[in-house]
Amino acid sequence: MVSSLPPIFLALLIFFCLQQKPCNAHKYLKLPLHHKNPFTTPPQTLTSDTQRLFTLSSSFQTQKTLKTPVISGASTGSGQYFVDFNIGTPPQKLLLIADTGSDLIWVKCSPCRNCSRHPPGTAFLARHSKTFSPFHCYNRACRLVPPPPKPNPCNLTKLHSTCRYEYSYADTSKTSGFFSREIATLNASSGREMKLKNLAFGCGFHVSGPSVTGSSFNGAHGVMGLGRGPISFSSQVGKRFGNKFSYCLMDYTISPPPTSYLIIGEAHEPNSKKPMKFTPLHTNPLSPTFYYVGIESVSVNGVSLPIDPSVWTIDGDGNGGTVIDSGTTLTFLAEPGYRQILAEFKRLVRLPRMVGPDASFELCVNVSDVANPRLPRLVVRFLGGAIFEPPPRNYFIDAADGVKCLALLPVNSPSGFSVIGNLMQQGFLFEFDRDESRLGFTRIGCAVS
Ligand SMILES: *[C@@H]1O[C@H](CO)[C@@H](O)[C@H](O)[C@H]1NC(C)=O
Ligand SMILES: *[C@@H]1O[C@H](CO)[C@@H](O)[C@H](O)[C@H]1NC(C)=O
Ligand SMILES: *[C@@H]1O[C@H](CO)[C@@H](O)[C@H](O)[C@H]1NC(C)=O
Ligand SMILES: *[C@@H]1O[C@H](CO)[C@@H](O)[C@H](O)[C@H]1NC(C)=O
Repeated sequence: MVSSLPPIFLALLIFFCLQQKPCNAHKYLKLPLHHKNPFTTPPQTLTSDTQRLFTLSSSFQTQKTLKTPVISGASTGSGQYFVDFNIGTPPQKLLLIADTGSDLIWVKCSPCRNCSRHPPGTAFLARHSKTFSPFHCYNRACRLVPPPPKPNPCNLTKLHSTCRYEYSYADTSKTSGFFSREIATLNASSGREMKLKNLAFGCGFHVSGPSVTGSSFNGAHGVMGLGRGPISFSSQVGKRFGNKFSYCLMDYTISPPPTSYLIIGEAHEPNSKKPMKFTPLHTNPLSPTFYYVGIESVSVNGVSLPIDPSVWTIDGDGNGGTVIDSGTTLTFLAEPGYRQILAEFKRLVRLPRMVGPDASFELCVNVSDVANPRLPRLVVRFLGGAIFEPPPRNYFIDAADGVKCLALLPVNSPSGFSVIGNLMQQGFLFEFDRDESRLGFTRIGCAVS
């Protein structure tokens, strides 16, 4: 459905450079990713992940029933990686959650003229920008966003019939406002700033509810959707840069935390021969936002578990499947697969077991007396044979002093879907190659960016 709507407005995206060199000197955009909340406790992480997954799957359900060609995956604030975003003329600097699980780019907006209550950096001050321009409701771009429950009648001849959108979240949080276009200013690989004209985004004049305000939003001003749908940042900007993006999430428990980057475009030199492994990205027509991967098998300490492969796949109703998501921290596995993996970990772990700080973590061990605890190793074989061998710190979290817990959680099967969260992704460069519809990953090159 989405593909049948030519996103004509995207063709209007124009890049221009601030200096004289030709624009093609910019091979990629490199945006530092900030990790904002290193002190979240595992139970807090679990709560925000659970809220997010509830939201993701309920937007998915809504979509299934409404069959509207709109974005899915309204994001909650649980995503823990943030990008700086400069928007407007002159540029206003805001902080957005980088989210592969949603499509819309949206920012908190203020219509204030004299903005003493909204000093710069607290919201996008639309009237302070010379280039702010809402789409007309008649514009085809307007069909790509969900309308408010009672949309104003669209009047073609009326100049100020703006395109209104409304995102409702599972927990009754909401963001609504004008679907608009603006100039964004970004740092290119050349180290210079470049301007991106006609970037389509939601200007959220009304933002309410727990998941998009307050502490759960971690001081962010909006969301940069990186999903597969036509209005995501990666879709709008990616075409200019080979329709690829990548990121490498560094272990944020290291002190001082190293910088992670989001790269839009080809981050490697073509002849550098980085030994990247690839697995196909799958689409689910009922959930067109997500990046799905296929799991072939899972092994623990070298023993492949007899999990029915259908546990990991998308069924005929669009349920199930395995999503790779930057906005979820922990990893969630379809129940039958989870049970077998947990049982194998329990069988193999040689450390004293104990009750963790949250009963949801079903395997916790006491490592207070062990300098280098030996933990069972998880290996995932993706479709196409790409082998993913994350280090144990990607799936055992420090739940308390001297306590490590297996950071895997079950999701209902077949209604839910499995999610590979950002903790599991740490220390790997992940490349989302949208033209080739494949996901590449490697541990090499993640540290040097
Ligand atoms: C804007 O705010 C300033 C400082 O609060 C005030 O001096 C000024 O009169 C206000 N201007 C308008 C047009 O309200
Ligand atoms: C559309 O707007 C024009 C100009 O404001 C107005 O004359 C006309 O009645 C409007 N049409 C509808 C259907 O509201
Ligand atoms: C570009 O990078 C420089 C140096 O890191 C930084 O000061 C500047 O704010 C960045 N500009 C944008 C638009 O992000
Ligand atoms: C962990 O083990 C040590 C000794 O091996 C013990 O002193 C400590 O109380 C244990 N911690 C918990 C939380 O059970």
